[in-house]
Amino acid sequence: MSSYIPLICTVDVGTTSTRAILFTKEGEEVAKHQIEYSTSAQEGSRRNSPTIFSSEGVALNMKDSSLVIEDVPTNPTLLFPNPGWAECDPCHILNNVVQCMSECAMSLEILNSEVPLDDSAEDEHPQYKVVAIGIANMRETTIVWSKKTGVPLYNGIVWNDTRTTGLMNNIRKNTPQKTLDDILERSGCPLSTYFSCLKWMWLYQNVPPIRKSYESGTKDLAFGTVDSWLIYHLTHEHAFKTDITNASRTSFMNLDTHDYDPRLLKFWNVDPNKISLAEIVPSSHFFGTFEVPDVTKLDPKLKDLSSDQADCLKRMLNGVPITGCLGDQSASLVGQTAFQKGEAKCTYGTGAFMLYNVGTDKLISEHGSVTTVGYWFDSLNESVDGKNCNKPHYCLEGSIAVAGSCVQWLRDNLQLIDKASDIGPLAAAAPDSAGVVFVPAFSGLFAPYWDASSRGTIFGITQYSTAAHIARAAIEGVCFQVRAILKAMLSDCGSKTDFLDDSTDGASVSINTLHVDGGMSRSDVVMQIQADILGPCVSVERAPNAECTAFGAAIAAGLENHVHVWKSLKDVKKSVSVDNNQRNVFHAEMTDAERRKAWNLW
Ligand code: G3P
Repeated sequence: MSSYIPLICTVDVGTTSTRAILFTKEGEEVAKHQIEYSTSAQEGSRRNSPTIFSSEGVALNMKDSSLVIEDVPTNPTLLFPNPGWAECDPCHILNNVVQCMSECAMSLEILNSEVPLDDSAEDEHPQYKVVAIGIANMRETTIVWSKKTGVPLYNGIVWNDTRTTGLMNNIRKNTPQKTLDDILERSGCPLSTYFSCLKWMWLYQNVPPIRKSYESGTKDLAFGTVDSWLIYHLTHEHAFKTDITNASRTSFMNLDTHDYDPRLLKFWNVDPNKISLAEIVPSSHFFGTFEVPDVTKLDPKLKDLSSDQADCLKRMLNGVPITGCLGDQSASLVGQTAFQKGEAKCTYGTGAFMLYNVGTDKLISEHGSVTTVGYWFDSLNESVDGKNCNKPHYCLEGSIAVAGSCVQWLRDNLQLIDKASDIGPLAAAAPDSAGVVFVPAFSGLFAPYWDASSRGTIFGITQYSTAAHIARAAIEGVCFQVRAILKAMLSDCGSKTDFLDDSTDGASVSINTLHVDGGMSRSDVVMQIQADILGPCVSVERAPNAECTAFGAAIAAGLENHVHVWKSLKDVKKSVSVDNNQRNVFHAEMTDAERRKAWNLW
């Protein structure tokens, strides 16, 4: 029997968990495995300073700027060594990916070995075969490693880390506004601790082995984001590539040329003669051929696969091409099939991220949004919005640093709930927040406010306030930011925004649906609050597929020329279309007066 059902294996590396999923063309999940990260706080035995690795892979500890070799007893994936600092262990991230993929490979082998009950139908028994691999990943997180050894020279600095606030303030003070505007115009990124550029500057200034390697001029030092780190280690060729959506989050890439911008590199102290930068390529692209990496060579303390697991992973996936890669927020835009100009999605993960598709013409925000790349499928030859869609598609993005992590905080730090899913029922116990306003600015406020110094605050507490009011106010704090971002984006597009304040007949409304996905979106209560805050002109539509991010990377992988699971975006839409009664749509129930009052209070 030669026919088989093609599958795409996606790995989705988020801020707090990694998963691998095997998808069919229709978006059905055939196998899945997820690993939640351990953190230094949970394990409790972690020292209060970050790990630095020598180029030989020995863990070093930084104390008063001198390096002291230290035995590291445990090695959690996420570390919070100082207030405002967030790091991840790149070898752990890689190991989690390999573990998740191997679990999926084992499930697949079992599925394929199941003999049909009716022997006569044996020839008809379809076998599944993984034909391509896609990657979706948290963005901006910055990793530098030695090309000679593959070993990272420091932990990854995670996107929401705020250690560079001082550095950023200095740059702001000492840089003419004209230059800052030029950076925004070229890269789409405002000056913020969020993007990779300042994380690189900090690494250069504070980690002696990195500075030494850079100054040696050998170009052994590789700079990358999570995608390029993974692709480097998961491919037989050690391919050193990054997809355009990830590259657009470094602040090193020019949005017009789709390549590194010499002026930006100079500004951020990156000399391409001293450091290796990953090649920027489209989201759908032959990145290289998968080969199971030996993670223990990078870090001997890591748990290796058993020989059965390793053999199975090799049998099922070695030699499969990696053909898709997208930053996770771009991936969920694609997974939501929001390909059309004017479509918007919001993913409620650790943070919340709204992307508004503005088509193939770059649009720089004057109201605090980031300009980013949504996707680039260069081999497609079809028209979307009357234009050939083989060019990069841009988005305005509004990032909210804290969303699901606020629910975690209510669970772990205040112990208001036992599990994250209890947040909806607790919030529903109060009809409104009774004047309590919760600003969850744990890492400053991102879009559209960009205030790095603000911190989380709860206002308006009275003797009457209960846990339910606080829970509700926390959810509202996220949903109000979504509304503020939508308002800013519509202003950038020259669209009216008054419909957010007052119901209209809908004639002047430029957006009528916000596609939503991610953990918090699974709660009906949370989505109803979001719909109430956006008003009756914008309905909130939850994706039936809970794994939009992972599926978006599968789409990128499956569109690649040699894979061709889908031949076009129309083909993608057709294969995943769902009938209307499977959709979950939320409409505002609040009156205009109530909404206006709540918004003014916020
Ligand atoms: O920009 C950061 C973003 O990519 C992280 O996404 O889903 O891990 O919160 P998530």
